[in-house]
Amino acid sequence: MGIPNANCVILAAGEGKRMFSRSSKVLCEVTHKPMISWVIDAARGAEIENICVVVGNKDVEDAAVGCSISYQQQRLGTGHAVMCASDFLKLHTGEDTLILYGDTPFMDSDTIIQSYALHKQEAAVATIISARLEDPTGYGRIVRRSGRIAAIVEQTDTDDATAKINEINSGAGWFSTATLLETLAKIGNDNAQGEYYLTDVVSILIENNLNVSVYTAENPQVTLGANSPLDLLNLNDIACQRAILKHLQNGVHFTSRYGIIIGPDVEIAPGAEIMMGSILYGNTAIGKGSIIGPNTIIRNSSVGEDTRLNACQVYESKIGSNVKAGPFSHFRPDSCISDWVSIGDFVEIKNSNIGEGTDVAHLTYIGDSDVGRFCNFGCGTVTSNYDGENKYRTVIKDYAFIGCNTNLIPPVTVGERAYTAAGTTITQDVPDGALAIDRGELGLKEGWADRKLAAYVEKKNRLMNDRKQ
Ligand code: UD1
Ligand code: CA
Repeated sequence: MGIPNANCVILAAGEGKRMFSRSSKVLCEVTHKPMISWVIDAARGAEIENICVVVGNKDVEDAAVGCSISYQQQRLGTGHAVMCASDFLKLHTGEDTLILYGDTPFMDSDTIIQSYALHKQEAAVATIISARLEDPTGYGRIVRRSGRIAAIVEQTDTDDATAKINEINSGAGWFSTATLLETLAKIGNDNAQGEYYLTDVVSILIENNLNVSVYTAENPQVTLGANSPLDLLNLNDIACQRAILKHLQNGVHFTSRYGIIIGPDVEIAPGAEIMMGSILYGNTAIGKGSIIGPNTIIRNSSVGEDTRLNACQVYESKIGSNVKAGPFSHFRPDSCISDWVSIGDFVEIKNSNIGEGTDVAHLTYIGDSDVGRFCNFGCGTVTSNYDGENKYRTVIKDYAFIGCNTNLIPPVTVGERAYTAAGTTITQDVPDGALAIDRGELGLKEGWADRKLAAYVEKKNRLMNDRKQ
């Protein structure tokens, strides 16, 4: 059940000075998904329609596909960031606005929906989402008086007593939109950081005896944020273990708890097995009975049933059922591998279709090609798809047999049931059922090598004697 007439503003403009990252902090990844995308998906999962992301850099705007964007030119604090979204807030006259922080990726749709229910039940002007943490260091603390919230004190503004409080502010919370806009105009920046804190809105509401409620999250993990590389590593560890547990409960087999990364959007059918060193992320799906790993990366790809991928890398591709690939096979984007295909070591496939039952056993590059069914590739075949300016397609029809070390210079078509002889360079179409053979006469010079060998053996012996001395 979603939430009608609600808006969401996600704060994502922070520079992340404490993170030392190359890109904006909220783009730092947890199991290979940017933190901001986790947060956007949580809001969408609660069916909040109008989402505005407050960004400081273009890179975050690019990640916030389908959201409204507000720019915060100067990072003057979380309160100032919400002010930067005031045009959005005024436009969407929905009753309530949810504020989320782009650096707390485990916020989930259930918490959003349940906190909203409390917000309405209490007829509150604001509902803060809190949690109790064993180690609250770094977070704003919730100070309560007679059970009700009295203040939020930032880490940098804590004294000994408040530092001991273990109930923390997640940063997320519901506000009556009109009250939020009014109160933001009243906050100042008189604090240790010299910033406009969103939490001061809460203080003002409390001072004015308005009804502020607190929703304490059942699972404190939803409030965890990342300000430093250590925080980020901790979030990754948690996400990895959570993913393994979730898939285990669905009947997926694992050979280890460690060295496996599975993104939140990956689907794995019961009965599949994931081995160590496997990294599966993006929109990836694995069919039942498939064995993935060890040491396999799969991104935004689908894998059918009973397929075996050993030490492979697969990107934006589709791999069928009963496929065997590896070790060391590389599937670059837009490759489509049909059922019963076998791909061997050091084979690279890019933007190509490989038909059912075809074998590509070793050391071959197939790029921009359409290969039929039941074809066989000898070792060391190359499709020379690029002439330095343009790319061309190679077509290899059903039952073709490509001999070892064949070079195919496209655009070119090898016909059905055709053969190419080992070492042949194919520069024109090969008709159905033909053999293409390109071989000069072999020259032989009797005894030519013997003289050379004597000199070579003498040189080697001399070098070895020198080294012994
Ligand atoms: C904030 C809260 C703290 C809470 C913690 C939870 C405030 C003042 N403090 O602290 O109570 O316990 O989050 O994780 O709100 N941002 C902007 N523009 C800015 C500053 C920040 O967009 O000018 C964004 C950041 O990208 C980030 C979020 O707001 O996603 C939170 O900012 P951050 O600086 O990480 O706040 P904390 O110090 O963690
Ligand atoms: Ca933070």
